Amino acid sequence: MSDSVRIVEVGPRDGLQNEKTPVGVADRIAFIKALLGAGLHTIEVGAFVSPKAIPQMVNSDQVLRGVSQFGGGEFHVLVPNEKGYEAARAAGARVVAVFASASEGFSRANINCSVAESIERFKPVMARAKADGIKVRGYISCVLGCPYDGEVKPQAVVDVAKTLWDLGCYEISLGDTIGVGTPAKARQLLRAVAGQVPMENLAMHFHDTYGQALANLYAGMEEGARVIDSAAGGLGGCPFAPGATGNVATEDVVYMLEGMGIATGVDMPGLLAATNEISRLIGRPPVSRVASAMNAKKRAGK
Ligand code: HMG
Ligand code: MG
Repeated sequence: MSDSVRIVEVGPRDGLQNEKTPVGVADRIAFIKALLGAGLHTIEVGAFVSPKAIPQMVNSDQVLRGVSQFGGGEFHVLVPNEKGYEAARAAGARVVAVFASASEGFSRANINCSVAESIERFKPVMARAKADGIKVRGYISCVLGCPYDGEVKPQAVVDVAKTLWDLGCYEISLGDTIGVGTPAKARQLLRAVAGQVPMENLAMHFHDTYGQALANLYAGMEEGARVIDSAAGGLGGCPFAPGATGNVATEDVVYMLEGMGIATGVDMPGLLAATNEISRLIGRPPVSRVASAMNAKKRAGK
């Protein structure tokens, strides 16, 4: 497994969308700049969704415009429908992400429609993106369990993944939204989805609610998956996924990969500084094990 892995940093979007303390535009831009400076190139910076649903992502247009001046980054934003697509394009988006669910319960709670209806909403977005030369990433939530429907069968994920792939998404990100998966299930899922979508076009987006995310990533890597979504500081969650906690922490992922001899190009002190600053702004210490360990070491002067 000594080849390369691509990290998609989702802290400025998934990380902040569920925080009680709102983070202003200038601080979000500074966070993204710090992440870029630490060597993270693919960064999800905001969401063009209903301000009533997710007030934390208000002014994502200003954030996107603000970071677009920084060279060397690929900035992603979420769009649930054509309205979101139009706003994202007006703010200069070059990569957008649509988001579906493998389960009906979460689809309804998150985006107020059935899975099939969400696909219908994405079709015009995909068509316009194709005409505009815009890349579209496709998320699938609840791939290993749903807070409303419980168990989710791999076939349900395979079906949505194939649909999004056939519609033209360049990459499908498999979201364990509530972090209930375990390694054997993650492995089985990746194997199943890779029967329809090439493994190289699959991303693992694992929340760490039950502390399984790193193990699940490792199992997925053994299957050949090489794209990992993570959030600095282990931030993250979704207000429509009750009980779910943050994404796997970027620093934990980087520590694991570097320890395996896989170069990430991420500068750990720079990442830690970005994590500590955003943690200060939201008023609580980072939950990640690596940040805790490194901060403790720093405090001890070692
Ligand atoms: P709806 O109520 O069915 O939509 O919401 P609607 O078309 O009837 O519109 C209702 C209102 O929303 C209208 O405003 C629209 O203008 C407005 P009003 O007339 O009431 O003032 N609206 C919009 N405003 C801004 N941007 C838009 C937009 N569309 C409509 N794009 C909708 C449907 C999808 C809009 C809503 O449910 C929504 O925004 N949901 C967002 C949910 C969300 O962002 N969840 C978190 C991200 S997903 C996630 O975290 C999972 C992931 O990380 C992977 C994983 O972990 O599994 C990706
Ligand atoms: Mg997520």
